[in-house]
Amino acid sequence: MSAVVTTSCPDLELIASGKVRDLYRIDASTLLFVATDRISAFDVIMDNGIPNKGKLLTEISIFWFSLLKDVLPNHFITANFDEFPAKVQPYRAQLEGRSMLVKSLRVLPIESIVRGYITGSAWSEYKKKGTVCDIQLPAGMQQSQAFPEPLWTPSTKAEIGDHDENIHPSKAAGIIGEKHAADMARISVELYTKARDYALERGIIIADTKFEFGVDENDTLYLIDEVLTPDSSRFWPASSYKLGVEQDSFDKQYLRNYLLNSGFDKNKDKGITLPEDIIAETMKKYQEAYKLLTGKDAQL
Ligand SMILES: Nc1ncnc2c1ncn2[C@@H]1O[C@H](COP(=O)(O)OP(=O)(O)OP(=O)(O)O)[C@@H](O)[C@H]1O
Ligand SMILES: [Mg+2]
Repeated sequence: MSAVVTTSCPDLELIASGKVRDLYRIDASTLLFVATDRISAFDVIMDNGIPNKGKLLTEISIFWFSLLKDVLPNHFITANFDEFPAKVQPYRAQLEGRSMLVKSLRVLPIESIVRGYITGSAWSEYKKKGTVCDIQLPAGMQQSQAFPEPLWTPSTKAEIGDHDENIHPSKAAGIIGEKHAADMARISVELYTKARDYALERGIIIADTKFEFGVDENDTLYLIDEVLTPDSSRFWPASSYKLGVEQDSFDKQYLRNYLLNSGFDKNKDKGITLPEDIIAETMKKYQEAYKLLTGKDAQL
């Protein structure tokens, strides 16, 4: 099985290539949003991909778009390849299952992170200063503990190659305006809470996640990008959850730990080829998350 790490659609206009996605313009109001099998960790793209990861991410996002659409409209139009425009049809073999048509929107330059449990960089900051993103928290929290309430900890959206920077929530208004910042904070927590409750019933703890939002020409807010995937979230198996320690996970943490244990330096390292067993294990984790969430076996 080979991974799709680049797409090539010479008759379509490629407008952006992110760490994972290739975006093609269809018309003024529509984009083709393609999830490749690329995987990044610490903002570095690995040389080899995870076969079919893009298909799983696409299915997982579609699943959440449907479940969360009553909280906020989203950019999803269709993932049915037969409904794609004629000019996309020649690329079916490459794109089917990993692509969707979406509304082309103006991306608000804030990564809208919601944390339900204390882990990762939040845990590191708390241990040092008793805060998370400079928000004061109760004393005595333990690693992996749930926050009293989900915490909104926005970060800036960095240019390619740069790292996103955490900001205090009060700074978001200065970047995207007061109204959008307030809506983003409230809606993100609402989206997270609904998803968290759903996932918990199916054996997954969503420890934290990142949403992105866009606006149309009327300044109406939409949920965009990928939603609640193992790339954008930390998913923990609820059955093995233990307070006070780092958790097993269904997401990129496995890869991150592999990199950290092999002496990875996020400011220097590029050109990393992952060993086969790390690829296979990562793939397994993504498939497990998909199955637990949707109740279906991945059709790959
Ligand atoms: N509906 C939309 N309209 C326009 N742009 C979108 C839309 N949905 C998502 N995007 C943008 O498409 C890109 C998706 O690509 P990918 O996930 O690979 O990027 P990324 O490397 O995470 O990029 P970034 O660092 O810019 O977030 C993101 O930059 C995201 O903001
Ligand atoms: Mg992204």
